[in-house]
Amino acid sequence: MSGVLRVDRLAAGYGDTQVLWDISFDVNPGEIVAIIGSNGAGKSTLLGAISGLVRTWSGSVTYDGRDLTGDHADQVVAAGVVQVPQGRRLFGSMTVEENLLMGAYLRRDKEIRSDLEKLLDLLPRLRERLQYLAGHLSGGEQQQVAIARALMARPKVLLIDEMSLGLAPVMVDQLLEIIKTIHATGVSIVMVEQDVETALEVSGRAYVLETGRFALSGPSSELLDDPKVKKAYLGI
Ligand SMILES: Nc1ncnc2c1ncn2[C@@H]1O[C@H](COP(=O)(O)OP(=O)(O)O)[C@@H](O)[C@H]1O
Ligand SMILES: [Mg+2]
Repeated sequence: MSGVLRVDRLAAGYGDTQVLWDISFDVNPGEIVAIIGSNGAGKSTLLGAISGLVRTWSGSVTYDGRDLTGDHADQVVAAGVVQVPQGRRLFGSMTVEENLLMGAYLRRDKEIRSDLEKLLDLLPRLRERLQYLAGHLSGGEQQQVAIARALMARPKVLLIDEMSLGLAPVMVDQLLEIIKTIHATGVSIVMVEQDVETALEVSGRAYVLETGRFALSGPSSELLDDPKVKKAYLGI
């Protein structure tokens, strides 16, 4: 089981432009937590700050009691907090297999091959595509590779940025089934989404990010029924 990921009073930005203010939230072991918000709200910046890719200005990020604030991205991955970046960011001219093995770049154990086999049992489509160049796959397949590559790092908390962006609903449904399977193995999940309905359906709790601040939070089922959420994000 995973520990608690705790973000406490985090502020971050780029240059002297502040993007995030006073962000606090916890992700408990075994939870799926959604962070929803419009384009430009600061969702990717928040995941970047947790992952050590965006410098934090103040506040802290801890995982399982260990302070990760200001740590290098590799140290955050080694601690078990692994991001699936927005836009997949695959190595397009490398094979699927090579991309997946890149996910294990920090590991020195002898179970990398057997982990890969287990993942390919879970994702049979990727087994068929193993020797294809990643750049030649469909968007949904590429997203599967991006998720699988993150899993090769043996995450305890998976941070997934805009998994559904640009994908057909049938692809999104397939990916959600994969997310549920991963979750059932004990991995905690933070899902960042503009697709609010998808995110609220799969998560237990959610936070609404508006121009760098949390505006609302609560059980996802309640947020789905919240008039403000309906009006602003669901077009109802
Ligand atoms: N690398 C960057 N340098 C400067 N500003 C950035 C950078 N990345 C994002 N921003 C700005 O930060 C704000 C939040 O962006 P982002 O975190 O990508 O939002 P979201 O993921 O919610 O769409 C936006 O105003 C965006 O223009
Ligand atoms: Mg983003």
